This record gives sequence, structure tokens and C-alpha cells, in this order.
Amino acid sequence: MAVTTEQLNVWKQQQRSIISLTAWDYSIARVLDEAGVDVILVGDSLAMVALGHPTTLPVTLDEMIHHAKAVRRGVKRALIVCDLPFLSYQENVSQAIHSAGRVLKETGAAAVKLEGGHARAIATVKELTAIGIPVMGHVGLTPQSCNSLGYKQQGNTAESADRILDEAIALSQAGAFSLVLEHIPSELAATITSTVSIPTIGIGAGGACDGQVLVTADLLGLSLTTPPFAKPYIDLQSIMTDAVERFAKDVLEDRFPTDH
Ligand code: KIV
Repeated sequence: MAVTTEQLNVWKQQQRSIISLTAWDYSIARVLDEAGVDVILVGDSLAMVALGHPTTLPVTLDEMIHHAKAVRRGVKRALIVCDLPFLSYQENVSQAIHSAGRVLKETGAAAVKLEGGHARAIATVKELTAIGIPVMGHVGLTPQSCNSLGYKQQGNTAESADRILDEAIALSQAGAFSLVLEHIPSELAATITSTVSIPTIGIGAGGACDGQVLVTADLLGLSLTTPPFAKPYIDLQSIMTDAVERFAKDVLEDRFPTDH
């Protein structure tokens, strides 16, 4: 049965961890879906892992939609959430409605994610949810703000921890169905998780979150640089290099193809 936003809530109540990974094309999405991933995020990290940009900022809404459509074709069960990229929702609520509406209409994704817990983000989440667009929030390290925050852990002073907790509460009260907590201390993530009624999905936020997400390129060993909290489960770069080198050698030494 297809995963819904309500199902994530049930799993939070049942303390059944939510499994989430990112995808950027049909093949990756199909593998993740068949392996039982619950939430497939078309993250704007695809700017870096699929398009080779140094940050997530350059990716456009049209590019996100292009990739989300491909992901959609590979998924039968998982809930698909698509990131709203930088400057596709921050200008005003109308811009956010237009962008989020395009994502849902054109890609078949079930929800959008946007970064930040400041007043404007809260107002945007309220408006989007009011017209039936499910929104996942994202607080802590928000990569679209890398030019002001960098990539360092957030919430490690009492003041910033209080601010992130307040943002998480405000986002959940505004109607967000779930929250990504990125690179914050595990105690803060545990406090947020026990305070808000919606599921939290952590990345570099410890084990107390209701679910965990990783950038799939990090998990597969395909990223040039990985954050300290990511765990590569396989070195796919070496495995692929070996396969490509063996193919090249076979061609050069007349072992492939074999029908001549
Ligand atoms: O873009 C992305 O991949 C994300 C994850 C880090 C949660 O937002």
C-alpha cells in the first residue's frame, strides 16, 4: 500500500522508525522503493550529487520538476516529497503556492519540503497546507543558507537551541506534516521529537528522531565529500571504476564482444 502522510503519524505513535533516502532519477528511485524506503525525497542536494554544482543554490524549479518526474516513474509505494529549491518560495506566499502547485501537478509528488523556521516560512507553510499542499519543514542546518550559516552544526548554544525548538513547534502548529532535523545535537532533536506531534526525520541529529534520512549518494559512496554524520554503506565509486576498467580492458584486448 502506498505510504501516506497519515501513515507517518501512525508510525510515530507506534515508535516504528521511518526510513527515508534521497533520489534524483528513475533507476535510483526504483531501487529505493523496491528496498522498502518509506519516504523518497527529491532533495535539492541533487544540485550537487546529480548536477555537479558546489552548493544546492543553483538548481531551478524546472530542474527539480524534471528530476521529480523521473523519480515518480520509479516509485510504487513510497511517499514522494520534493524540495522547493532556493528562491522558488521565499519571495512571497503567491510564489510559494505557484511553485508548490507546479510540483504537485507536474510531477505527481505527494508533498513539498521547504527550509527554515522564520516567520515567513511559517506563514508559507500555513498557506500551502490550507490549500491542501502537504509540507515537510526543515530546521537546523539548512543548506540553502550556506552562505550565512555554513555547514556547521546548529543549535549548540542555549539561545540557538531554543530558537530551533520554537521554529519546530511553530512549523508543526502551522500544519507541516513532518520535520527534517539536520545537524543539530541529539539532545535537542530528542526534545523536539518528544514535543511536537508530527514525525521528525533526522540527518546528523542522533537516534531519537522518528526517522532517519541520508543523501543516497553519501550512502552509496558516490559523493566527493561526505558530511561527518553520513555513513557510506558501500564504495560504489570503486566498484563502478573497476567494472568500467575491466570493460575497457576487454575491448582493448578483444575479449568483448565475443561474437567476432
Ligand atoms: O536536499 C536534501 O537532500 C535534503 C536532505 C539533506 C534532507 O534536504
